[in-house]
Amino acid sequence: MDHLITVDDLEISDIQEIFQLADRFQHGRYAIKKQLFAGNLFFEPSTRTKTSFIVAERKLRIEALDFQPELSSINKGETLLDTVKTFEAIGANIVVIRHRDDDWAKQITPYVSIPVINGGAGKKAHPTQSLLDAYTIFHEFHRFEGLNVVIAGDIKHSRVAHSSADLLDKLGAQVFVSGPNEHMDEDGKYPYVEIDEAVRFADVLMLLRIQHERHEKESETTLDNYHERYGLTIERERNMKSDAIIMHPGPVNRGVEIDAALVEAERSRIFKQMQNGVYIRMAILTKLLRNWGLIDEDDLEKC
Ligand code: CP
Repeated sequence: MDHLITVDDLEISDIQEIFQLADRFQHGRYAIKKQLFAGNLFFEPSTRTKTSFIVAERKLRIEALDFQPELSSINKGETLLDTVKTFEAIGANIVVIRHRDDDWAKQITPYVSIPVINGGAGKKAHPTQSLLDAYTIFHEFHRFEGLNVVIAGDIKHSRVAHSSADLLDKLGAQVFVSGPNEHMDEDGKYPYVEIDEAVRFADVLMLLRIQHERHEKESETTLDNYHERYGLTIERERNMKSDAIIMHPGPVNRGVEIDAALVEAERSRIFKQMQNGVYIRMAILTKLLRNWGLIDEDDLEKC
């Protein structure tokens, strides 16, 4: 594993190593002794992913390089590849990229000599989110086999849905999808279930917002009765299994895909996912820097 672009880059042994590292970072403070720089190149809005990468880098004492696309030389015609090569030339040892293009990584990874982490690629892939989702589920249930995971919402336009479904399927969970028909993938890779049925058998109910910014045409699905028709209402939550959990990658549109009061419900792990995201991103950074020979175990200092 040289880069983390999609969950296809991950063998089961990679996932286990990332979880073990995340556990270690959760229970002890570690810092990298060498001076290293990370470029955080976010071309789309982000609150959770960007901030948790910055916190992960700072906890490891990797120096986080700021980048604001609107103030960068992208506005003078510089390409994404030349921007990444510039960061590499100036001293970045690793980069995290979020970009609206589904396949931006194909233009980058063959031409750079530093590890690249996908912080979100269009509607295609968000592997660091899916790793933190899987880590959160594993800490809850200590297994994946036999778990029913329902991902409900705008599947078609969600990079989280695509990455998390594929990762959880790889790990042995039974993955289902739910939501408006027009927001389902055409390939029908994962079985469809109505939300009223989903709440009764799901161990994990992962809700998604409608990804309006990635819709190519006006949606037939309106917000008027979305919550009642497809969302997690108070009434549906009462029908969930006693130990089932609610997840959401965020940002949440309260009152649309989930009742506002359920975001903080006892069974909600929405803020736990964000906390876990920091440790998972510390683990991914560490693993890739190790894989490239940029650090070894001796460079990781307990402090
Ligand atoms: N889950 C997620 O990717 O959130 P942000 O868009 O805030 O980074």
